[in-house]
Amino acid sequence: MSITQRFANSFPHILKMASGQLSRAEALACKGCRHACHVMLYSDTRSQLFGRIPIRHIILMQMRFDGLLGFPGGLVTLSKETLEEGLSRELLEEIGVAVPIAEENHVESCYGPASSSSSSSHLILHFYAKKLEEEQILDIEHSAVSKAADHGHEVLGMVRVPLYQTQGGRGLSSFLSHSFIGNARLQLVDCLLRFGLISAKHLHKALSQAVETHKDTAQDLKLALALTQK
Ligand code: APR
Ligand code: MG
Repeated sequence: MSITQRFANSFPHILKMASGQLSRAEALACKGCRHACHVMLYSDTRSQLFGRIPIRHIILMQMRFDGLLGFPGGLVTLSKETLEEGLSRELLEEIGVAVPIAEENHVESCYGPASSSSSSSHLILHFYAKKLEEEQILDIEHSAVSKAADHGHEVLGMVRVPLYQTQGGRGLSSFLSHSFIGNARLQLVDCLLRFGLISAKHLHKALSQAVETHKDTAQDLKLALALTQK
């Protein structure tokens, strides 16, 4: 059972997944469903933070227009394009490069949260992952700012996922404690494990720390809220 499925089973009231995961073929057979495709683009890197902390992998996410972290991609129109063509088109809009995505890059498909749209039709979320060369990732980061039509509008900026923990216990744990769209945090965690980008032990530690960081954030928010009540 995937992490996404386990989470959906444990917290149906949060995600309101209709029935969790489905195969790509089952998803395509759904008449009247809407489809959205997102992708985790990543590479290896030998670069180091402060010349001593190995960065290991560059994983691209984005700050969305709604203030949430998510993966690049978006809604696909199956009457005009395949899932993968639609995803490449969305990538051109959001990162300025139409990175070709193939069926073999498909990771999983699942029902989206029922509340994600005013439309009554089910939204099916298709998730992909594609490993690129470091130079390609650097090109994408440049074009996302200089060429992408959606920059500053639907996409407020691309961000890298820090995979390290600093001595002060920050890094991946802080990143994971932010707010994500839908199940993007679970998709990230699932892919980190699935592609061996971090050990389960380190990820467990970072997630445990993220829970604590989240409590600090809640406290911080209450203090900020108090400033508006004077
Ligand atoms: N998990 C669950 N849902 C997700 C995820 C995810 N990881 N990523 C995106 N979604 C949902 C979004 O909430 C949205 O409802 O998938 C849908 C489409 O994804 P977007 O990337 O937001 O779509 P895009 O086509 O890029 O942008 C269109 O413009 O009209 C607005 O609100 C509309 O979000 C939509 C945006
Ligand atoms: Mg999008």
